[in-house]
Amino acid sequence: MTQPISIGIVGLGQFGVHFVELFQKHPLVKRVALCDLAPDKLARAARRFGIRETYASLDEICKSNLDALAIITQPWLHAPQAIQAMEAGKHVYTAVPIIMPLSGDGDEILAWCDKLIACCRRTGQHYMMGETTYYRPETVMCRKRAAEFGQFIHLEAEYLHDTWLPACNLIAVQMARTGLSEAEVIRLGGDAPMHYPTHSTAAPISITGAHAVEVSAFGYTYPDDPYFRADSKTGNVFSHEVGMFRMSNGALAIITESRRNGHTGHEGIVRIIGSEASYVHDARDEYRGMWFTKTAAQPIDPCAYRDPLPNALMDDLGGHGGSHAYLVHEFVSACAEGRLPKINAWEAVRYMAAGVTAHRSALRGGELLKVPDWGDPP
Ligand SMILES: NC(=O)c1ccc[n+]([C@@H]2O[C@H](COP(=O)([O-])OP(=O)(O)OC[C@H]3O[C@@H](n4cnc5c(N)ncnc54)[C@H](O)[C@@H]3O)[C@@H](O)[C@H]2O)c1
Repeated sequence: MTQPISIGIVGLGQFGVHFVELFQKHPLVKRVALCDLAPDKLARAARRFGIRETYASLDEICKSNLDALAIITQPWLHAPQAIQAMEAGKHVYTAVPIIMPLSGDGDEILAWCDKLIACCRRTGQHYMMGETTYYRPETVMCRKRAAEFGQFIHLEAEYLHDTWLPACNLIAVQMARTGLSEAEVIRLGGDAPMHYPTHSTAAPISITGAHAVEVSAFGYTYPDDPYFRADSKTGNVFSHEVGMFRMSNGALAIITESRRNGHTGHEGIVRIIGSEASYVHDARDEYRGMWFTKTAAQPIDPCAYRDPLPNALMDDLGGHGGSHAYLVHEFVSACAEGRLPKINAWEAVRYMAAGVTAHRSALRGGELLKVPDWGDPP
């Protein structure tokens, strides 16, 4: 039976505010509350979206009778906050990643993955990670046409986001998230690109339904890099990392995570080679690609494969390839129908573990390492 839900949005920073209207408009959402530690952001968002129910902290909103929380706080807070909320009886959505600790410690990421899975099992609450690549039209199209590829042979995906990209400077983003000055952020240093791997790893894992079992990876060190350097807090010298994975279905996957590149930026599929068909994504246009068989090469519009949405969400799908509306719809529907969300904890930890293990391999000069796995959802 489908039951409309009540939801609180925790974290009304640069990203969180883009989700409020989508939750408000969803026909299966009967009540929306807002929460932020910063009183000015909370008041501004409450005014802008006409919402009266507000909470000054996660601790406070956890005491409410809301069914679910969407946590869009800083990336080093997601996992502990998700666990706190699930323990308080809420279904939880977080922005990506599951966690990216300020320490830059990959073991800590895996330990939180472990705790998140244990918490889902213990509480029976649902967790969903809001991975935008999962609902990019080309990812959706390749998932829907998965059988046409034949045997998956080779998949490539990437997340290219230069640290100093004029359209979204990651130093400025980190200053806003930490409250530190530019000099302090640069002194802290840049974490391993593979510690934020979900925009790339989500593509091969969700399209094939297989997971990474082993990886050999390398890191690139820019000469005299002021940000990715050995004497920083994280000690990470890699601004660009490439991993070669063997997947559980035998396919090979190449993942590139780059924070230093002369590129406007791209996230998601690069190309997929199957035994019967292949797809090459056109990064010049987020809605175009080429579909190949042994006898034909055809331009393709992946948007034609989008799923229907409630009418109220159709006029503005939101950013990242129109994925925002689909993320909201999937989380709300899963909670309302009492089912596991598609990007559940078991799926999400697979995206994370692939990246963390790739960085570990890169630190060991490309040593072939096994990727930990928590299995399929119960
Ligand atoms: N493509 C994508 O999927 C994508 C794109 C952008 C950002 N993100 C993710 O979104 C998240 C948020 O990014 P942002 O740029 O909006 O950050 P931000 O720093 O602008 O906003 C975070 C907000 O959370 C609030 N907050 C923190 N702890 C809280 C608590 N205990 N209770 C209530 N509020 C609390 C802060 O006060 C702040 O307003 C990040 O984790 C980032 O990784 C994902």
